Amino acid sequence: AAPARDRLRIAIQKNGRLAEPARALLSACGLSWRESRDKLFCYGESLPVDLLLVRDDDIPGLIADGVCDLGIVGRNELDEQGAARVQAGLAPAFHALRGLGFGQCRLMLAVPDEWEWQGPAQLSGTRIATSYPAILKDWLAARAIDAQVVELSGSVEIAPRLGTADLICDLVSSGATLRANQLKPVETLLDSEAVLAGAVRSPDDARGALMAMLLRRLDGVVQVQD
Ligand code: PRP
Ligand code: ZN
Ligand code: MG
Repeated sequence: AAPARDRLRIAIQKNGRLAEPARALLSACGLSWRESRDKLFCYGESLPVDLLLVRDDDIPGLIADGVCDLGIVGRNELDEQGAARVQAGLAPAFHALRGLGFGQCRLMLAVPDEWEWQGPAQLSGTRIATSYPAILKDWLAARAIDAQVVELSGSVEIAPRLGTADLICDLVSSGATLRANQLKPVETLLDSEAVLAGAVRSPDDARGALMAMLLRRLDGVVQVQD
Protein backbone atom coordinates (compact mmCIF):
# COMPACT_ATOMS: atom_id res chain seq x y z
CA ALA A 1 0.00 0.00 0.00
CA ALA A 2 1.07 3.59 -0.61
CA PRO A 3 2.45 5.41 2.43
CA ALA A 4 0.12 7.83 4.24
CA ARG A 5 0.20 11.38 2.95
CA ASP A 6 -1.33 14.59 4.25
CA ARG A 7 -0.88 16.53 1.03
CA LEU A 8 -3.01 16.09 -2.06
CA ARG A 9 -1.26 15.15 -5.29
CA ILE A 10 -2.61 15.94 -8.75
CA ALA A 11 -1.09 14.52 -11.93
CA ILE A 12 -1.26 16.61 -15.08
CA GLN A 13 0.29 16.34 -18.53
CA LYS A 14 3.82 17.74 -18.69
CA ASN A 15 3.72 18.62 -22.40
CA GLY A 16 0.94 18.46 -24.92
CA ARG A 17 -2.52 19.83 -25.50
CA LEU A 18 -3.86 19.52 -21.97
CA ALA A 19 -0.78 20.80 -20.12
CA GLU A 20 -1.45 24.54 -20.23
CA PRO A 21 -5.24 24.55 -19.79
CA ALA A 22 -4.96 22.06 -16.91
CA ARG A 23 -2.55 24.31 -15.05
CA ALA A 24 -4.62 27.40 -15.81
CA LEU A 25 -7.73 25.70 -14.44
CA LEU A 26 -6.02 24.70 -11.20
CA SER A 27 -4.60 28.22 -10.83
CA ALA A 28 -8.11 29.60 -11.27
CA CYS A 29 -9.11 27.35 -8.34
CA GLY A 30 -6.65 29.30 -6.18
CA LEU A 31 -3.72 26.91 -6.30
CA SER A 32 -0.16 28.13 -6.67
CA TRP A 33 3.14 26.28 -6.67
CA ARG A 34 6.79 26.73 -6.10
CA GLU A 35 8.34 25.02 -9.10
CA SER A 36 11.05 22.49 -8.58
CA ARG A 37 14.09 22.80 -10.79
CA ASP A 38 13.34 19.76 -12.92
CA LYS A 39 9.68 20.80 -13.03
CA LEU A 40 8.36 17.27 -12.63
CA PHE A 41 7.10 18.05 -9.16
CA CYS A 42 5.53 21.36 -8.13
CA TYR A 43 5.14 22.00 -4.42
CA GLY A 44 1.82 23.64 -3.52
CA GLU A 45 2.13 26.96 -1.70
CA SER A 46 -1.40 28.32 -1.22
CA LEU A 47 -2.74 24.89 -0.22
CA PRO A 48 -1.16 21.49 0.46
CA VAL A 49 -1.83 20.42 -3.11
CA ASP A 50 1.19 19.31 -5.17
CA LEU A 51 1.44 18.74 -8.91
CA LEU A 52 3.14 15.89 -10.68
CA LEU A 53 3.95 16.57 -14.35
CA VAL A 54 3.89 13.34 -16.32
CA ARG A 55 2.97 11.71 -19.63
CA ASP A 56 -0.81 11.57 -20.01
CA ASP A 57 -0.64 7.79 -20.51
CA ASP A 58 0.75 7.42 -16.99
CA ILE A 59 -2.03 9.35 -15.23
CA PRO A 60 -4.67 6.59 -14.81
CA GLY A 61 -2.03 4.19 -13.46
CA LEU A 62 -0.71 6.76 -10.97
CA ILE A 63 -4.26 7.11 -9.62
CA ALA A 64 -4.83 3.35 -9.59
CA ASP A 65 -1.61 2.87 -7.62
CA GLY A 66 -2.48 5.63 -5.15
CA VAL A 67 0.59 7.67 -6.10
CA CYS A 68 -1.71 10.55 -7.06
CA ASP A 69 -5.17 11.39 -5.76
CA LEU A 70 -6.41 13.20 -8.83
CA GLY A 71 -5.43 13.69 -12.44
CA ILE A 72 -6.40 15.78 -15.43
CA VAL A 73 -6.43 13.56 -18.48
CA GLY A 74 -8.38 12.98 -21.67
CA ARG A 75 -11.48 10.81 -21.34
CA ASN A 76 -9.98 8.82 -24.25
CA GLU A 77 -6.96 7.78 -22.18
CA LEU A 78 -8.98 7.13 -19.03
CA ASP A 79 -11.58 5.02 -20.85
CA GLU A 80 -8.92 3.08 -22.75
CA GLN A 81 -7.08 2.09 -19.60
CA GLY A 82 -10.37 1.45 -17.80
CA ALA A 83 -11.51 -0.87 -20.60
CA ALA A 84 -8.11 -2.60 -20.63
CA ARG A 85 -8.44 -3.27 -16.89
CA VAL A 86 -11.88 -4.79 -17.33
CA GLN A 87 -10.61 -6.93 -20.23
CA ALA A 88 -7.76 -8.12 -18.00
CA GLY A 89 -10.21 -9.05 -15.25
CA LEU A 90 -9.12 -6.23 -12.92
CA ALA A 91 -11.48 -4.19 -10.75
CA PRO A 92 -12.25 -0.58 -11.73
CA ALA A 93 -9.74 1.69 -9.95
CA PHE A 94 -10.37 5.19 -11.34
CA HIS A 95 -13.20 7.16 -12.88
CA ALA A 96 -14.03 10.59 -14.25
CA LEU A 97 -15.29 12.98 -11.56
CA ARG A 98 -15.93 16.01 -13.78
CA GLY A 99 -15.83 16.98 -17.45
CA LEU A 100 -13.68 20.08 -17.76
CA GLY A 101 -14.86 21.63 -21.02
CA PHE A 102 -11.53 21.74 -22.86
CA GLY A 103 -9.46 19.33 -24.94
CA GLN A 104 -12.45 18.23 -26.98
CA CYS A 105 -11.74 15.59 -29.61
CA ARG A 106 -13.29 12.40 -30.97
CA LEU A 107 -12.02 8.88 -31.21
CA MET A 108 -13.01 7.91 -34.75
CA LEU A 109 -12.62 5.28 -37.38
CA ALA A 110 -11.07 6.73 -40.53
CA VAL A 111 -10.76 5.01 -43.88
CA PRO A 112 -8.80 5.84 -47.06
CA ASP A 113 -10.51 8.63 -49.06
CA GLU A 114 -11.30 6.29 -51.95
CA TRP A 115 -13.36 3.90 -49.81
CA GLU A 116 -17.09 4.01 -50.25
CA TRP A 117 -18.33 3.78 -46.66
CA GLN A 118 -21.35 1.55 -46.20
CA GLY A 119 -21.26 1.05 -42.46
CA PRO A 120 -19.53 -1.03 -39.76
CA ALA A 121 -20.45 -4.38 -41.35
CA GLN A 122 -17.86 -3.54 -43.99
CA LEU A 123 -15.11 -3.91 -41.37
CA SER A 124 -15.17 -7.70 -41.10
CA GLY A 125 -11.82 -9.14 -42.09
CA THR A 126 -10.03 -5.77 -42.08
CA ARG A 127 -6.98 -4.68 -40.05
CA ILE A 128 -7.45 -1.55 -37.94
CA ALA A 129 -4.45 0.36 -36.56
CA THR A 130 -4.95 2.16 -33.24
CA SER A 131 -3.45 3.29 -29.96
CA TYR A 132 -6.84 2.53 -28.35
CA PRO A 133 -7.07 -1.28 -28.65
CA ALA A 134 -9.33 -1.86 -25.63
CA ILE A 135 -12.00 0.68 -26.64
CA LEU A 136 -11.86 -0.54 -30.21
CA LYS A 137 -12.15 -4.22 -29.21
CA ASP A 138 -15.22 -3.42 -27.07
CA TRP A 139 -16.78 -1.47 -29.93
CA LEU A 140 -16.15 -4.28 -32.43
CA ALA A 141 -17.38 -6.97 -30.02
CA ALA A 142 -20.62 -5.03 -29.35
CA ARG A 143 -21.28 -5.17 -33.10
CA ALA A 144 -20.07 -8.74 -33.59
CA ILE A 145 -17.49 -7.52 -36.11
CA ASP A 146 -14.51 -9.79 -36.64
CA ALA A 147 -11.64 -7.42 -37.46
CA GLN A 148 -7.96 -7.47 -36.54
CA VAL A 149 -6.74 -4.80 -34.14
CA VAL A 150 -3.19 -3.64 -34.90
CA GLU A 151 -1.81 -1.82 -31.87
CA LEU A 152 0.56 1.09 -32.55
CA SER A 153 1.78 3.60 -29.97
CA GLY A 154 1.99 6.47 -32.46
CA SER A 155 1.93 7.60 -36.10
CA VAL A 156 -1.20 5.53 -36.54
CA GLU A 157 -2.28 7.64 -39.50
CA ILE A 158 0.45 6.33 -41.80
CA ALA A 159 -0.40 2.65 -41.26
CA PRO A 160 -2.76 2.37 -44.27
CA ARG A 161 -0.11 3.81 -46.59
CA LEU A 162 2.53 1.50 -45.15
CA GLY A 163 0.20 -1.43 -45.71
CA THR A 164 0.27 -2.50 -42.06
CA ALA A 165 -3.47 -1.81 -41.68
CA ASP A 166 -6.49 -1.08 -43.88
CA LEU A 167 -7.92 1.71 -41.76
CA ILE A 168 -7.32 3.46 -38.45
CA CYS A 169 -9.05 4.33 -35.19
CA ASP A 170 -7.55 7.53 -33.79
CA LEU A 171 -8.27 10.89 -32.19
CA VAL A 172 -9.58 13.61 -34.45
CA SER A 173 -9.52 17.22 -33.39
CA SER A 174 -9.27 19.65 -36.33
CA GLY A 175 -9.20 16.83 -38.90
CA ALA A 176 -5.95 18.11 -40.40
CA THR A 177 -4.00 14.92 -39.67
CA LEU A 178 -6.58 12.77 -41.45
CA ARG A 179 -6.71 15.10 -44.47
CA ALA A 180 -2.92 15.17 -44.73
CA ASN A 181 -2.96 11.38 -44.89
CA GLN A 182 -5.84 10.99 -47.37
CA LEU A 183 -8.13 9.51 -44.75
CA LYS A 184 -11.74 10.37 -43.95
CA PRO A 185 -13.62 9.94 -40.65
CA VAL A 186 -16.60 7.57 -40.80
CA GLU A 187 -17.66 6.50 -37.27
CA THR A 188 -17.33 8.02 -33.80
CA LEU A 189 -16.42 5.64 -30.95
CA LEU A 190 -16.05 8.26 -28.23
CA ASP A 191 -16.58 11.98 -27.65
CA SER A 192 -13.69 13.05 -25.48
CA GLU A 193 -12.63 16.06 -23.45
CA ALA A 194 -10.32 16.65 -20.53
CA VAL A 195 -11.70 15.23 -17.29
CA LEU A 196 -10.76 15.36 -13.65
CA ALA A 197 -10.14 11.74 -12.70
CA GLY A 198 -9.93 10.23 -9.25
CA ALA A 199 -9.80 6.88 -7.50
CA VAL A 200 -13.01 4.91 -7.20
CA ARG A 201 -12.38 4.86 -3.45
CA SER A 202 -11.53 8.40 -2.38
CA PRO A 203 -9.62 9.07 0.86
CA ASP A 204 -11.79 9.73 3.94
CA ASP A 205 -9.12 11.68 5.83
CA ALA A 206 -7.79 15.25 5.50
CA ARG A 207 -7.02 14.63 1.84
CA GLY A 208 -10.67 13.76 1.24
CA ALA A 209 -11.80 17.07 2.75
CA LEU A 210 -9.24 18.94 0.66
CA MET A 211 -10.45 17.12 -2.43
CA ALA A 212 -14.07 18.05 -1.71
CA MET A 213 -13.11 21.69 -1.34
CA LEU A 214 -11.16 21.61 -4.59
CA LEU A 215 -14.14 20.07 -6.40
CA ARG A 216 -16.43 22.85 -5.12
CA ARG A 217 -14.00 25.50 -6.37
CA LEU A 218 -13.63 23.70 -9.67
CA ASP A 219 -17.38 23.56 -10.19
CA GLY A 220 -17.54 27.32 -9.67
CA VAL A 221 -14.70 27.99 -12.11
CA VAL A 222 -15.92 25.60 -14.83
CA GLN A 223 -19.46 27.04 -14.61
CA VAL A 224 -18.17 30.60 -15.00
CA GLN A 225 -16.20 29.54 -18.09
CA ASP A 226 -19.27 28.00 -19.80
C1 PRP B 1 -3.72 13.19 -31.98
C2 PRP B 1 -4.01 12.11 -33.01
C3 PRP B 1 -3.67 12.77 -34.31
C4 PRP B 1 -3.94 14.23 -34.04
C5 PRP B 1 -5.28 14.65 -34.61
O1 PRP B 1 -2.40 13.10 -31.65
O2 PRP B 1 -3.22 10.96 -32.78
O3 PRP B 1 -2.32 12.57 -34.63
O4 PRP B 1 -4.00 14.42 -32.62
O5 PRP B 1 -5.50 16.04 -34.47
P1 PRP B 1 -6.04 16.89 -35.68
O6 PRP B 1 -7.36 16.31 -36.09
O7 PRP B 1 -6.21 18.28 -35.13
O8 PRP B 1 -5.03 16.84 -36.77
P2 PRP B 1 -1.79 14.03 -30.51
O9 PRP B 1 -1.37 15.32 -31.10
O10 PRP B 1 -2.75 14.13 -29.39
O11 PRP B 1 -0.48 13.33 -30.06
P3 PRP B 1 -0.02 11.80 -30.01
O12 PRP B 1 -0.44 11.17 -31.30
O13 PRP B 1 1.44 11.91 -29.88
O14 PRP B 1 -0.68 11.20 -28.80
ZN1 ZN C 1 -0.48 10.06 -25.03
MG1 MG D 1 -0.90 11.94 -33.11
